[in-house]
Amino acid sequence: MTANRRVSRRIGQIQKSAIHEMTRLSKQVEDVAFLSWAKPTSDTPEHIKEAAVAAIRAGLVGGYSENAGLPQLREEIVRKLARDNRIEASPSQILVTVGAIEGLAAAVMAVIDPGDEVLLPSPTYSTHIRQVVIASGKPVLVPTIEDEGFGLDIEAITQAITPRTRAFMYCSPSNPSGTVFAEQQLRQLAEVCLENNLMVITDEAYEYFVYDGHEHFSIASIPEMRRNVISCYTFTKTYAMTGWRIGYVHADEELIPQIGKAHIPFAICAPVVSQYAALAALQGSQECVARFREHYLAARNLMCERLDRLDSVFSYQRPGGSYLMFPRILLDAGCDSTAFCRKLLQEARVSTTPGIAFGPTGEQHLRLSFCVPEDEINKAFDRMETYLR
Ligand SMILES: Cc1ncc(COP(=O)(O)O)c(C=O)c1O
Repeated sequence: MTANRRVSRRIGQIQKSAIHEMTRLSKQVEDVAFLSWAKPTSDTPEHIKEAAVAAIRAGLVGGYSENAGLPQLREEIVRKLARDNRIEASPSQILVTVGAIEGLAAAVMAVIDPGDEVLLPSPTYSTHIRQVVIASGKPVLVPTIEDEGFGLDIEAITQAITPRTRAFMYCSPSNPSGTVFAEQQLRQLAEVCLENNLMVITDEAYEYFVYDGHEHFSIASIPEMRRNVISCYTFTKTYAMTGWRIGYVHADEELIPQIGKAHIPFAICAPVVSQYAALAALQGSQECVARFREHYLAARNLMCERLDRLDSVFSYQRPGGSYLMFPRILLDAGCDSTAFCRKLLQEARVSTTPGIAFGPTGEQHLRLSFCVPEDEINKAFDRMETYLR
């Protein structure tokens, strides 16, 4: 890098995302079987698109909205939180954001001082780690218990707390493991966080995609946690609205304006057209969500069946939620998951994501996404069966 084109240390230390790198490499491979992206492949439901078109035609979307979002959208979000998350909120506790990602980044910015430690379960969503680093915080990855479906290790979390620990940040259902943290575990976590005055930052992007009787539990529904939780949600996964960039944050009414101070310089407000689309998503039929869930469940079952046939190569924890799973590579070659995934791409034409991208305990694993058509899963596994046997 030349002397007159220096980047900040903050940015210089951020490594390229393994997901984007695998996407780049995958583009160079013809007819690749693609299991790398955690992105819904369905299109946004028609009634949501129609509402956006109507808002455009009515001349409602050319200006900014209130920084915190359209009042009628925040009211609808309040109803949704009461109905589905057991959270009693008011519109002053809601900030509409540019997807969950911007909400999470603003939340981290609002509560983390330089040098503050943030505990994260390992494996975890790699973007969370980067968000802490960009805020000049220190990510501290606490291993989960793989044999218990990558469940939280409350003992290890307690031991990892130091005087510099400021927050615990997690996603449930999890990217990359599909783990749904059980209510009882989250209640234990809440106790530990209250005892040590820690904030909890949640990413509930996959809240509606849970299977086999698992239940999504929002830690903010525990009344004692009212002042200690910032919860981040999104329309991206629930309604296949990846590109609309729309989500929201719930926190107590004193914290929301503070998080807003980080939201405004980066976004001013969430895209207004997307806010109208989100309003239609919440007010309309939820049948589309059930349909997506059914599809992911069938795809998960298929992926598990196909993995069972490769049991000398992979072991796995059955994901209880999301549309991702995190098999362990039983071969010696798995100790360098990046090299393993690159070889799989180049020699078997299957695109996956190396486990190391999700924290130190991710090595010896790879992440597979099942939010793809079933044909794509079969194509990938037919190739892996030929290549890995
Ligand atoms: C755990 C998790 N959080 C957030 C996101 C992105 O959410 P959004 O599109 O709302 O910013 C993703 C996308 O893959 C994700 O897996």
